[in-house]
Amino acid sequence: MTAETVLHNARIVLADEIVEGSLVLRDGFIAGIEAGASSGSSRTGEDMGGDYIIPGLVELHTDHLEGHYAPRPKVRWNPIAAVLAHDAQVATAGITTVLDALRVGMDEDADLTSADIRKLADAIEDSVKQDRLRADHFIHLRCEVSAPDCLRAFANFDGDERVKLASLMDHAPGQRQFVNLETYAYYYQRKLKLTDRDFKVFCEKRMAESARNSAPNRAVIAAACQERGIVLASHDDATSGHVDEAIEQGVRVAEFPTTEEAARASKEAGMGVLMGAPNVMRGASHSGNVSARTLASDGLLDILSSDYIPFSLIQSAFFLGDVVEGISLPQAVAMVSKNPADAVGLTDRGVIEQGRRADLVRVRVDDHVPVVRTVWRQGRRVA
Ligand SMILES: [Fe+2]
Repeated sequence: MTAETVLHNARIVLADEIVEGSLVLRDGFIAGIEAGASSGSSRTGEDMGGDYIIPGLVELHTDHLEGHYAPRPKVRWNPIAAVLAHDAQVATAGITTVLDALRVGMDEDADLTSADIRKLADAIEDSVKQDRLRADHFIHLRCEVSAPDCLRAFANFDGDERVKLASLMDHAPGQRQFVNLETYAYYYQRKLKLTDRDFKVFCEKRMAESARNSAPNRAVIAAACQERGIVLASHDDATSGHVDEAIEQGVRVAEFPTTEEAARASKEAGMGVLMGAPNVMRGASHSGNVSARTLASDGLLDILSSDYIPFSLIQSAFFLGDVVEGISLPQAVAMVSKNPADAVGLTDRGVIEQGRRADLVRVRVDDHVPVVRTVWRQGRRVA
């Protein structure tokens, strides 16, 4: 038996235009797009009331799951409950495919162990198998290559086919995101409540770890990902030298380049340039690096990610065109759907066209905020 749903009276956001009409979903896929009012059609369907229908959002880097599992220092929540709470939050924000970022290699920012991280990954896997989830979940390993335990933690994911993306990051002071030590102090000294003297000792230790571990760990993980077909991302690249290294290691996605120079070099090398949706909304990076709006206006932005605020992804799609001249709604929507899907090889989704998965979001914009009214994954309502 075929299951068919018709969504009438919608503003359908296609890859390069917006069409007013109806969308036909059949057996979990998009079966047809019909422009204009449905004239005396015998089909019954749902009236979308002129709302937008956009492709389900594809999120490549959300840090949000860990917070549901470890909501306070030393507190650990049931990992399945944490996955469900996170899943509900992303789905109601219009995200139908999510790569949950899990850390590999613990830096000083982490209150978690690699055993905690494996527990979370197991809870995701179990929840997918038991059909508990609204969104389609995959794993993004955030590999802190400066950390001494990075490779040991990475080995916990040997043979784990849910891993689709791995990013190579180095958050030691003086590196990339924290070239400026004042920004680093603002971020960590206050967070860790260290005196100036202790902070200096701490910085020296982190810099020594980075000098010792980063290059070999980067090379080992890059080679393993190439072999396993896991897409590689660079993280916080600041210079063309960083980008050269990324090219050599087979990186396909440049996550959060911190300068225009690095973004341009990454783009020229054919990488997808990813920036944070919170950066778009705020008009600046939280650590003082290049603005995502600047990169968008220079044609250097491909992918947006919600980073630390799940709802920011859909907000940025409906906001980017208001603050950056020349960006249409279909272009902004592609940055949160087609472009991230393509970057990790999920070519069955990410755009509204016949034959793609019926991963869809009904949205009405109310007082500049996109209101997510309905979400479908493979034609099934999930939020
Ligand atoms: Fe970073």
